[in-house]
Amino acid sequence: MPKKGRVFSGARPTGKQHLGNYLGAIRNYVALQDDYDCVYCIVDVHALTTVDTTQDLKQNTVEMALDWLAAGIRPEETILFIQSHVPEVMELHTYLSMVTQMGKLTDLPTFKEKLAQQPENANYGLLGYPVLMTADIVLYKSDIVPVGIDQAPHLEFAREIVRSFNYRYNTKVLIEPQVKHTEVLKVLGIDGKAKMSKSLNNHIELAATPEETTARVREMVTDPARVKRTDPGNPDICNVFSMHKIFSPQDEVDMINVECRRAGIGCVDCKMRFAANLNKHLELFRAERAELASKPDYVTDVLNDGASRARVIAQQTMKEVREAMALP
Ligand code: AMP
Ligand code: TRP
Repeated sequence: MPKKGRVFSGARPTGKQHLGNYLGAIRNYVALQDDYDCVYCIVDVHALTTVDTTQDLKQNTVEMALDWLAAGIRPEETILFIQSHVPEVMELHTYLSMVTQMGKLTDLPTFKEKLAQQPENANYGLLGYPVLMTADIVLYKSDIVPVGIDQAPHLEFAREIVRSFNYRYNTKVLIEPQVKHTEVLKVLGIDGKAKMSKSLNNHIELAATPEETTARVREMVTDPARVKRTDPGNPDICNVFSMHKIFSPQDEVDMINVECRRAGIGCVDCKMRFAANLNKHLELFRAERAELASKPDYVTDVLNDGASRARVIAQQTMKEVREAMALP
């Protein structure tokens, strides 16, 4: 079947992936492969803008790639690669920076947030972050970019840069990408309050053992108004119930929905049921991950192969870009 176009997305190498990554991104990346030619990039250069993520860059890249592959990214068809392995993106970033107005970069809320988070490291890369992201997208002539809603301003910005470039050089070589927002799904952490994230240590890792997963689920915060076992609970505001709706069979969800409200089922029992269903759901993924991890060089080979296929597209685009710019 001919594919509908090219999808590109990037993610920083954050190491072992958690349920938030899975439900908010990976699951969607996997599904898109059926209809599109997909290019997925591990953006190690972007990661260099924040010091805390650079320490275990290599290890984090391998762990993340393993999770993606075990979850169903098919490297024979999809291009999975590391950003810095295709250095053409750095060149394109520089050219694009000349058609990007500085005031617009400094105005971006994401830039201001980053500066506030790390005032001691206000590096130039942070300012250029969206320009490099634009270079990622247009280098591969991507039609569609699936990202979370938080990246919407960056995508709008990318479209503007493309328009400026094409106008300045009177060309059509760069394609304005379309955004495809992933289902608005914010997975909460085990604290039941904040977005699940590694940095808050409120996450549940996909690759953890069943025992570790159960221990983590046991810590999950339920309806805070339900203090005693005999108090009725409210599933509508309980994060454990939200998870049941994703991972448990419908009859069990219906049962909990009724029993929780009349204190027929306790929170511990409810959480243990969720842990069991989650572990079952992840069984195949974990077996596949262990299998892939046991093959020496498997991930490195996949990433190298991805980079060579990505480079073919990148070199062609750069040839067209340099021509359009009439560089001497
Ligand atoms: P990050 O690890 O924050 O760079 O995120 C990588 C991808 O996973 C992005 O597409 C995020 O939108 C998604 N993601 C991360 N955490 C969550 C979460 N708690 N809920 C939903 N999506 C998430
Ligand atoms: N900026 C994105 C993030 O922080 C990661 C990213 C880099 C990206 N390049 C991209 C996403 C290109 C989509 C397309 O999550």
